[in-house]
Amino acid sequence: MSKVVVLDHPLIDHKMAKLRDKHTGTKEFRETVSEVGMLITYEISRDFETVEKEVETPIQITKAYELKKPVVIVPILRAGLGMVEGIHNIIPTARIGHVGVYRDEETLEPHEYFAKFPIDIKDAAVLVVDPMLATGGSASAAITMVKKRGVTDIRFVGLVGCPEGVKRLQEDHPDVDIFLAAMDEYLNEKGYIVPGLGDCGDRLFGTK
Ligand code: PRP
Ligand code: URA
Repeated sequence: MSKVVVLDHPLIDHKMAKLRDKHTGTKEFRETVSEVGMLITYEISRDFETVEKEVETPIQITKAYELKKPVVIVPILRAGLGMVEGIHNIIPTARIGHVGVYRDEETLEPHEYFAKFPIDIKDAAVLVVDPMLATGGSASAAITMVKKRGVTDIRFVGLVGCPEGVKRLQEDHPDVDIFLAAMDEYLNEKGYIVPGLGDCGDRLFGTK
């Protein structure tokens, strides 16, 4: 069974309060999603493998460590895009794939409409990124799309999850660890996370 990590950090809590507040405007919302993405990355990357190498400092040759695998960030369009800049800020060598999945507003079923990945994604540590883990349908579909490229090292990174989404993801992909900034109470009858932060894509891009 995969591990579920809910980040426990005062700075993340502070920024999540801003994201949850319905009075927070588009600019501040977008900046804050990116900032939480950056903070969360520190924890996600804790178990990344490293390899030893020799480095010559100005004083002498010493042992040093670098990441063993390349990292690929895969945002789920649209809302996942909001977290990419923050993650990329601290893993600047990461490359970026994209998956397009939207959720039908009536049935809540995921629909795939786009996929573009780096050619050698198979050997990378892949971060599938989406702020909202609601029914878990979109995240599960996106991870399946990534697995079809032969990837075996995958983590899901989100801002707000709920028990329904975590259960679905753990059932569908027991090998994928889940990292969240907050774990909320439940899904309402319209498929929104409660208390949540509303429609993340619309708040990021000012579409409502
Ligand atoms: C939202 C969100 C997730 C999905 C989560 O996207 O960004 O991708 O819903 O819901 P689920 O866990 O029930 O699948 P949406 O489909 O609204 O598209 P958007 O990112 O374009 O706003
Ligand atoms: N997608 C969102 O943007 N918000 C929710 O609460 C659920 C799905």
